[in-house]
Amino acid sequence: MTTADGLQSLDALDCGSRIRSRRLSDGVVTLVVDASGLSAAERNKLEAELTSAARAIEGVKDIRIALTASQPRRTLIAVASGKGGVGKSTLSTNLAIAIARTGKKVGLIDADVYGPSQTRLLGSDEKPTADDKKLNPVEAHGIRFLSLGQLVSTGHALAWRGPMASGALAQLIEANWGDAEILVVDLPPGTGDVQLSLIQKSRPDGAVIVSTPQALSLIDATRAVDLFGKMSVPVIGLVENMSGYTCPHCGEQSDPFGSGGAEEAAAAMGIPFLGRIPLDSALREASDVGTPPAASGGPQSEAFEAIARKLMASLETSSADEHSPVEEMADASRR
Ligand SMILES: Nc1ncnc2c1ncn2[C@@H]1O[C@H](COP(=O)(O)OP(=O)(O)O)[C@@H](O)[C@H]1O
Ligand SMILES: [Mg+2]
Repeated sequence: MTTADGLQSLDALDCGSRIRSRRLSDGVVTLVVDASGLSAAERNKLEAELTSAARAIEGVKDIRIALTASQPRRTLIAVASGKGGVGKSTLSTNLAIAIARTGKKVGLIDADVYGPSQTRLLGSDEKPTADDKKLNPVEAHGIRFLSLGQLVSTGHALAWRGPMASGALAQLIEANWGDAEILVVDLPPGTGDVQLSLIQKSRPDGAVIVSTPQALSLIDATRAVDLFGKMSVPVIGLVENMSGYTCPHCGEQSDPFGSGGAEEAAAAMGIPFLGRIPLDSALREASDVGTPPAASGGPQSEAFEAIARKLMASLETSSADEHSPVEEMADASRR
């Protein structure tokens, strides 16, 4: 076979449509091949096939194959708060599951390097495997997830400094998320290194801020809103957690952390209010035993479903309209 039609002949292979560019000079064939969506074994097979076909071309002495893979564009949602213990992790788990129940493929990343809790919340102690040094997320309750809690033994605090924590987060984000369309990232509390590196390296498409109705929690939430705003990450909205308590014995309604504070604060900051999750001992109990209420669609799942609907609607508007209302609101909050 002559060199000229030799290179063309590669197109006739099964994998021919993956060839992005081909060159032959001084007996060296250089191929750039799109290996998107292939497993490690399939990539090896692809390379072997191309190598043997290229070797059959007259005058070929050496073959160089560069495999590229385009990452599918996923929507990355950060769940953040100024304070710890306000329910970020509980919201992240149940929100991810509620979104998955609308038919989306959802991944959840537990980025709380200092206090990972998703293995407990999802009731899974399965360890992730790895391919090509990339972690394979674990399935639970209809979503896939990765947590640093899977990589260290239970109860071992991670005394990591900023750069290590950020490196660990990058590993979780660059894992084999396959066809996941939405990634929810459960952040540690505050506005530190992990948040900054997530914003800088992974550019979340939006942030959901969680607060209790308490003034102190709201002041910290304002800081989180400010951080995302300054870094031009649209704030999708504020969620009020632990609002309104119904006594399981007498049915009396009370507001242990105050009421309505978050909605007022959201209005003052010019960001959307996404909804409230009642303080509910059934929610805590279910969370503690790894049966997230959103998975069963019971009474505790309603608040999460409503928030999931608002969030999806907001994402659809922002992808349909480049200058989205969410961004405009985040812009307003920055002024
Ligand atoms: N709405 C709620 N009702 C009852 N308990 C809640 C609620 N939200 C969170 N909790 C409980 O509060 C604790 C802290 O919640 P968590 O989601 O871990 O917060 P964070 O991730 O912000 O630190 C957990 O024990 C959790 O089960
Ligand atoms: Mg947490």
